[in-house]
Amino acid sequence: MTTHFYTASSLDGFIATPQDSLEWLFAQHFDQEGPMSYESFIPGIGALVMGRSTYQWLLKHQDTWEYSQPTWVFTHRQLPGIERADIRFISDDVGSSFADIHASAQGKDIWVMGGGDLAGQFADAGHLDELWIQLAPVTLGSGKALLPRNLQLELLDTSRNDDFVCAHYRVLGKLGA
Ligand SMILES: NC(=O)c1ccc[n+]([C@@H]2O[C@H](COP(=O)([O-])OP(=O)(O)OC[C@H]3O[C@@H](n4cnc5c(N)ncnc54)[C@H](OP(=O)(O)O)[C@@H]3O)[C@@H](O)[C@H]2O)c1
Repeated sequence: MTTHFYTASSLDGFIATPQDSLEWLFAQHFDQEGPMSYESFIPGIGALVMGRSTYQWLLKHQDTWEYSQPTWVFTHRQLPGIERADIRFISDDVGSSFADIHASAQGKDIWVMGGGDLAGQFADAGHLDELWIQLAPVTLGSGKALLPRNLQLELLDTSRNDDFVCAHYRVLGKLGA
């Protein structure tokens, strides 16, 4: 069972603007049946994990909740759930909560959707295995960081998907450790 951080990023390492806009991302072209596509990634996923900002972004911008998997939302706030969706709010450190998240995936993989610091918390706890990054041909200058940690990665694969450079990495551990 593998924990993945699968996300799109600007070339300069931001997954959203400081105001949480993704307009720059959706202006690009990505072939959903091409290399490293969402369609090939999602069938292996048994549980989703996200932070409060990512959840609120989805609530605001998606008409319907498209995920059947248990979804763990890390937050310190009271947030609305979604009818007929399995949303589990959690306020804890990743190390303490990982066993429950792992069990909920029922043998399938875990997708940390974002943000970058939450993915970093999984790395801190030794529970982040692979990164799948779709690099958009855009620089933002500032914004929400892709993965604000010092990590050593192993490049497993690269490909082009329309406007994006796609890179797949294994997380080896802390840089210099
Ligand atoms: N480019 C892409 O493909 C992509 C993918 C995913 C997300 N995004 C976007 O990137 C942005 C990410 O925002 P973000 O960096 O602010 O990250 P985020 O992880 O979505 O949200 C951060 C918040 O999560 C809560 N949190 C994190 N760790 C916690 C813990 N251990 N316990 C309890 N609560 C915890 C805190 O919320 P509280 O305020 O509740 O304490 C924290 O302020 C969003 O705009 C999202 O839409 C982009």
